[in-house]
Amino acid sequence: MSSSFTFFLLLLLLLAFSSASSADNYAHNINNGGEDKKYSSSSPDEGGDGDVFRLEAPNLDETTLDNLLSFGHYRKTCAQFESIVHRKVNEWLNKDRTLGASLMRLHFHDCVVRGCDASILLNHETSERRANASKTLRGFEVIDDIKTELEKQCPTTVSCADILTTATRDATVALGGPYWDVPYGRKDGRISIADETEKVPVGYEDITSLLELFQSKGLNVLDLVILSGAHTIGRASCGSIQDRIFNYKGTGKPDPSIDPKYLDFLQRKCRWASEYVHLDATTPTKFDPIYYLNLHKNLALLSTDQLLYSDSRTSPLVSAFFRSTSSLFNHQFAVSMAKLGNVGVLTGDHDEGEIRTNCNSVNGAY
Ligand code: HEM
Repeated sequence: MSSSFTFFLLLLLLLAFSSASSADNYAHNINNGGEDKKYSSSSPDEGGDGDVFRLEAPNLDETTLDNLLSFGHYRKTCAQFESIVHRKVNEWLNKDRTLGASLMRLHFHDCVVRGCDASILLNHETSERRANASKTLRGFEVIDDIKTELEKQCPTTVSCADILTTATRDATVALGGPYWDVPYGRKDGRISIADETEKVPVGYEDITSLLELFQSKGLNVLDLVILSGAHTIGRASCGSIQDRIFNYKGTGKPDPSIDPKYLDFLQRKCRWASEYVHLDATTPTKFDPIYYLNLHKNLALLSTDQLLYSDSRTSPLVSAFFRSTSSLFNHQFAVSMAKLGNVGVLTGDHDEGEIRTNCNSVNGAY
């Protein structure tokens, strides 16, 4: 075992076991409405120092009284919140399991633009949801259904941003992934601008751009590698990879890094942009770290995923994960998802957030 590999494994173990809570306290949490712990939202690092590959835990020193979320936020006002989300997510996934991955992606797209404020759910002509980058997003009906039930039981109490974050966590668990505690109290944003979805990565970026994007959200290189592991499940539309397999960077040829047999399969499968193909070529419906082994074998569907293995800033982490156990991946995934869910949240009274009564429109829109 090389010394750099040992170093990364140690680092991962430290990070993983320092903060995540595990799946086995799920029932306890549902029944008790969560403990009344306080949790700080991670403040975005504007990245002025250009140090895009720092490895560190969220900086609790950056906490202010304004940006506190709390695990017991709905305990007195809507104690049934978590159990309603849990039940609804499982009902929807029992009908259509593919919605689980779609909810995870929806949450990511929400948090990348204006923070996790449910701006992606607003549905008006110039909103994020109507942008090109959102064309294949799914799962809106799941959130609407949960919101309708919550408005019956606890009117104007639970934000759409908290619903989306919690539904994503429950979908991850339902797909065989880890549980993590979600602190609550996010407000819903009142602004959603289609052009701002330009920051959402589409699969053709280089690693430097991805690291810069993540750093601007307070997420580090480990979060990038681990959260890309969400591609262990779900699918992409062929439109997202056609350039890669037929005309990579305008060369008229495919990306030379793709395994030849896999390329042949993809070229036959993806004649039409509207077809779908699994993101994980070998275990597409299992939430597992085999995704990282695929990168090692040149079996990544997205160019951005494959680059994680060839870029020297990310490849040691990829190697550590494909040699690791599922439980290490699960633990770190939970830690990074918890961080993602706290990106840029609106919590104060003065920060223009609200509790929407309908997730598709701001209050007073009609
Ligand atoms: C790091 C940069 C990322 C890039 C470049 C990227 C890119 C993509 C692309 C191109 C697709 C296929 C979209 C389509 O054609 O329909 C996709 C799907 C997906 N992404 Fe990502 N993604 C990234 C990060 C993330 C993160 C952080 C998460 C979640 C934490 C995530 C979760 C998913 C899931 C679950 C799907 C499958 C969706 C479905 O089956 O409906 N992605 N991603």
